[in-house]
Amino acid sequence: MAITDIEVIENYIRMCSDGWDQGWHERNGGNLTYRMKPEEVEQCRPYFKEIPGPWVNMGVQADNLKGEYFISTGSGKYFRNVSLAPQDNICIVEINDAGDSWRIVWGLEKGGRPTSEFSSHFLNHSVRKEATGGENRVIYHAHPANLIAMTYILPLTARDFTRALWKSATECPVVFPGGVGVVPWMVPGGSEIALATSKLMKEYDAAVWAHHGLFCSGPDFDTTFGLMHTIEKAAQIYILALSAGQGKILQTIQDDELRAIARDFGVVLREEFLD
Ligand code: 13P
Ligand code: ZN
Repeated sequence: MAITDIEVIENYIRMCSDGWDQGWHERNGGNLTYRMKPEEVEQCRPYFKEIPGPWVNMGVQADNLKGEYFISTGSGKYFRNVSLAPQDNICIVEINDAGDSWRIVWGLEKGGRPTSEFSSHFLNHSVRKEATGGENRVIYHAHPANLIAMTYILPLTARDFTRALWKSATECPVVFPGGVGVVPWMVPGGSEIALATSKLMKEYDAAVWAHHGLFCSGPDFDTTFGLMHTIEKAAQIYILALSAGQGKILQTIQDDELRAIARDFGVVLREEFLD
């Protein structure tokens, strides 16, 4: 028995491999964090380091994440290497009683620290935990090419992106009826972009980072990966249709047809995004 035989670790590693297979994680691009359930922490505890790493202040704080444990990809580590050597590329961190610092309790055996976007993940976890009554546990950041390409040709508003994506594939309004938020271009890795993203994550479960990538949240690995996949597939269709049509769209899904989808599938679309 090894820590990699524990279901949550297995599923986490599988999601990293799936993201790599999709081409969303060039070099060290992207990061994944998971807020562990208490029983998962207990399953993993026998594998924890005898002496945990030092506490590291995050520069951000959240009362509702005090004492939580997260699985995180390592900063500068490659998704393609996670399944080959999980102990060197991912880690488990514990959050302190003040909710403002982490320390490594397992993993990154050859050194390192959790993702440079940990403060964004952390604040997003905080608002998504609050917004979903504790249900959301996964924050996933990737660099999917078509979605990034869209940030060069559309106004950087939630309304413009949501409408373009909803109309690019019939399933989209069902998968993300709340739409997607958009963060303007900002320097990654700091608390400023973390705060801007988490503000949007109060309302949205996905947030576009202009000219950079996408953040998705969800209750489990499948749903969160599925959200990233659906949004990027829609973006691909949007880019393909615009490219093939040389910028001309002959027909698309109408707003009343979006309303009809919502009615039949029992979802509530963000009405202010419809004409
Ligand atoms: P990390 O390697 O620190 O996770 O950074 C990758 C990334 O995508 C930054 O936005
Ligand atoms: Zn990134």
